[in-house]
Amino acid sequence: MCGIFCLLSLSPTQFEWDKTVHEHLKRRGPNLSQDLTVRGTNPSYRCFFSAHVLHMRGILTPQPFQDNAGNVLVWNGEIFGGLPVMPEDNDTAVLSQRLSSCNSPSEILSLLSAVRGPWGFVYYQKAGDYLWFGRDFLGRRSLLWKFDAAVNALTLTSVAAQSSGPDQSAWQEVPAVGVYRIDLKAVTGAGSVTFELHPWARGGSDLASSCSETILESVPSGCTAVMNPSGLVLTSPVCPLNTSIPKPLNEKESLSNSHPCAKELEQMLASEEKTDEVNRLIDVLSEAVRRRVQSLPFRVQDSPPPPNDRASVAILFSGGIDSMVLAALADRHIPAHQPIDLLNVAFKLQVPKKQKVPAKKPGKHKNKPAGFKTDGADYQTSSPFDVPDRITGKAGLKELQDLNPERRWHFVEINVTKEELQTIRQERICHLVHPLDTVLDDSIGCAVWFAARGTGFITQDRDQRAFTSSARVSF
Ligand SMILES: *[C@@H]1O[C@H](CO)[C@@H](O)[C@H](O)[C@H]1NC(C)=O
Ligand SMILES: *[C@@H]1O[C@H](CO)[C@@H](O)[C@H](O)[C@H]1NC(C)=O
Ligand SMILES: *[C@@H]1O[C@H](CO)[C@@H](O)[C@H](O)[C@H]1NC(C)=O
Ligand SMILES: *[C@@H]1O[C@H](CO)[C@@H](O)[C@H](O)[C@H]1NC(C)=O
Repeated sequence: MCGIFCLLSLSPTQFEWDKTVHEHLKRRGPNLSQDLTVRGTNPSYRCFFSAHVLHMRGILTPQPFQDNAGNVLVWNGEIFGGLPVMPEDNDTAVLSQRLSSCNSPSEILSLLSAVRGPWGFVYYQKAGDYLWFGRDFLGRRSLLWKFDAAVNALTLTSVAAQSSGPDQSAWQEVPAVGVYRIDLKAVTGAGSVTFELHPWARGGSDLASSCSETILESVPSGCTAVMNPSGLVLTSPVCPLNTSIPKPLNEKESLSNSHPCAKELEQMLASEEKTDEVNRLIDVLSEAVRRRVQSLPFRVQDSPPPPNDRASVAILFSGGIDSMVLAALADRHIPAHQPIDLLNVAFKLQVPKKQKVPAKKPGKHKNKPAGFKTDGADYQTSSPFDVPDRITGKAGLKELQDLNPERRWHFVEINVTKEELQTIRQERICHLVHPLDTVLDDSIGCAVWFAARGTGFITQDRDQRAFTSSARVSF
């Protein structure tokens, strides 16, 4: 992931960095930070780009990436297919080359439609004075926008900062409904910004109206969004969902409720047709995992291979079905002598204080459900970090060890205390998920952050030792 930033100023005010935003961007891309400004004289505008690269593939490509024609690309993404990117290539350079050779908006759109993988980008097209930006079909990389009317400036950034000031809610997510283009010639005359939307064709539904509703809600005030006048669209990379329900195997199955028992599932899997469907699903997932684990940072020729005890892939591992399936599929595609790190996060449980049972009112406890303990006995034998995910994680580890006993599975226990959670949540996580702020955003954000940090403990030969994952890819 990289940190990308673009500030479009329509009046020649001096730009001042929001220090917190700058710091957060730098953390997204520790390997190289650079700024670049392009100016339009007639029309007059200024685009300030700042990019912070996390080096993933090829030779480190500096960003903002400016080609010979003066076009500028900032790219926060990864190309897994759709365009030929050799293992030693850097995808930023490949994409920039392809973009420079586009002669029309429809060529740019078909290029972006072809890319398989997550992305967010801003592209300054010098010929014609256009600024393009957007996110992939599923919105897997973040991009936020904000318009500051006082200084007449639009900001696009991959990460912002939660502020307690008056403009608290100013940042909005750029809706992942298509790719946007700003005609810089038009904005400088008008003094306000208009986005031309080129929507993803999602098949079926009334495109224009469903898109515009989503956008209208999050267009920064002072800006407007319009459908592009030529009616151009991006071809969706995802097939429309087949919503027809397959015919039941037999009458009995259709009568049973939505919770089939194990026997019914076995019967279902015994049918050839269902086995085919299951295999097709596994094949698709397996191929996706293969691309993820094999698109690893390219090793420079002649550099020594990574030591055999260092994993290059880590899995965010709760031991639930999703992470088990991903771990089992990763096992298929990673050579058996390489370890795989399983990152298991546990937030410390509140240990209930030993309750003093008031001697005078013993009757009160009669209504407690069976098995309910007030004396904290459960916690004397187990640790406050033995949360459900830790327990399923350990059970999952056992199954994986049975599946491939040859492999070293590093089960990384990441124990997070309440104090640490509070500190990090306020210093980092709330900014990273901003402007999203639901309980779910917070809890997923916290789990992902602590897992991705990759530091915890592993147990080897009954000894616990501190461990930091060496993986460059985690999922
Ligand atoms: C990029 O930065 C990370 C984190 O600081 C570091 O581990 C890695 O070696 C750097 N990569 C390069 C190519 O400098
Ligand atoms: C990667 O990018 C650099 C810098 O832009 C470029 O010089 C180099 O040729 C690229 N490397 C490959 C292998 O494409
Ligand atoms: C959709 O699924 C049904 C079975 O539920 C199948 O018969 C049909 O061929 C599918 N349609 C497409 C377009 O794949
Ligand atoms: C982490 O939690 C586990 C319980 O799941 C416990 O066994 C282990 O000792 C804890 N490690 C540390 C370093 O606190």
